[in-house]
Amino acid sequence: MQNLNKLWKIFNQKFTDTGLTKGAFSAPGRVNLIGEHTDYNEGFVLPMAIDKKIIMLGQLRNDRIVRVFDLGYKAEIKFSLDHLSPSKKDIWANYLMGVADEIQKAGYALSGANLIFSSNIPQRAGLSSSAALEVVTALTMAQLNLLEIKPVEMAHLCRRAENNFVGVACGIMDQYVSCLGQKNYALFIDCRSNDYDLVSLKNHNYQIVICNSKVQRGLVDSEYNKRKEECKIAVEFFKHKLNREIGALRDISIDEYKKYKDQLPEVIARRARHVISENRRVQTGVEALGRGDYSAFGQLMIESHRSLKDDYEVSCAELDLLVDLALKQEGVLGARMTGAGFGGCTVNLLRRDYIDAFEKTIKQEYKKMTGIMPDIYVTPPAEGAKVLELRQ
Ligand code: GLA
Repeated sequence: MQNLNKLWKIFNQKFTDTGLTKGAFSAPGRVNLIGEHTDYNEGFVLPMAIDKKIIMLGQLRNDRIVRVFDLGYKAEIKFSLDHLSPSKKDIWANYLMGVADEIQKAGYALSGANLIFSSNIPQRAGLSSSAALEVVTALTMAQLNLLEIKPVEMAHLCRRAENNFVGVACGIMDQYVSCLGQKNYALFIDCRSNDYDLVSLKNHNYQIVICNSKVQRGLVDSEYNKRKEECKIAVEFFKHKLNREIGALRDISIDEYKKYKDQLPEVIARRARHVISENRRVQTGVEALGRGDYSAFGQLMIESHRSLKDDYEVSCAELDLLVDLALKQEGVLGARMTGAGFGGCTVNLLRRDYIDAFEKTIKQEYKKMTGIMPDIYVTPPAEGAKVLELRQ
C-alpha cells in the first residue's frame, strides 16, 4: 500500500503523537542496465532507479528507542540507539539498526523514532529492496533529526550498514542509485571516484522491461564473496606481472590481459576477462546511448549476459531461458540477467510497440518450460530517494 493518507492513518493508530517532527519519505529499488559485478572492482556501472519503492513514515521520540512496523509482513521491532548489535532472529531489523549505527558512528546525533514502512519492491528478486530499505531509513532518520547528510555520503553509509551489520559484502551501486536516481535517466557511476553522469533514456520508442524469474538460489552470498576473492587473485597476479600500481582490474587493458591470461589459472582468467570486458561494455554502451544508438546498446547487453553466464558463471538455467526467449521476440534489442545473479531478474530493452506481445509470449513460454509464471514490470527510469512531506 502506498497511499500517504492511508499510511498516516495506520501510523496514527499505531503510535501516540509525540508532538515532535514527523514526515514521509521514499526510496526506490533499481535495475542495472549494464556493468555487472564491476562495482566492487572499482569499475563502471549503469543502473537506473525503478518506479517501485519503499515509503517510510516517521516521527521523532523523546527517548533513544526506535520502534518500527513493517506493514508488508505485519512485523514489529523495537531497539535502543544505545545498544545496537545484529539480530539473529529479526534479520530485516539489521538493515535499520545498521543504518542507525553507521549514522551515529559518522558522528551524527540521533533521537529515537516511531516508524512504519510499506514496500512494493519484489523481495529477493535482485531489484535491491534491501538497499531501498537502508536508504529510506537513512533519509528518514537524517531528515527527522535535521542532519545534513549528502546523497553520496548517505549511499556510503548505507553500504557500510549492509557490509558491517547485515554481513553482505556488496558494492556501492544499489545504495548509490537508490539515493541519486533521476527520472528519465540512468546513472553512469565510476565506482572508484564515485563520480556520476546522467545518461538520458528519454527516447520514447524504447522501453526497459524487467522479467522476474521468481527463482533465487541460496548460493548468492557465498558465490558473490568467492567472485570477489577470485578478482583479488587476478589483481595480485597483474601487480607482479606488470610491476606497476594496480588498484583493481579496471587498470588492466584488454591487450595486457591477452598477453598474460594463459599464465593465470583458467577460472581466474575467465573471471578477470568478464570484469575487464564488462567495464569496456559499460563505457561503450554509454557512448552508444549518447548518440541514440539503442541497437548497439542492446548488443552490448547480449554480450554482457554471455560473459556473466560463461566467464563469471553467475547466471542460472531460468535466467538463461528468459534471455533466450526474449531474444527470439520481435522488437527486442537486448536482454541480460541483472543484479548479483543465481536467480532474480533479467533486464530487456524493447521497442515500445512490441511490449504487449513480448509480455504475453514470455509468460506463456516460461510457464510452459518451468511451471513458474514470471512477473513482468515495465518501468521508466524513476527518481531516487526523496522527502514526500516533512511536518515540524
Ligand atoms: C548486488 C550487489 C551490488 C553489485 C551487484 C552485481 O546487487 O549489491 O553491489 O555488486 O550485485 O553487479
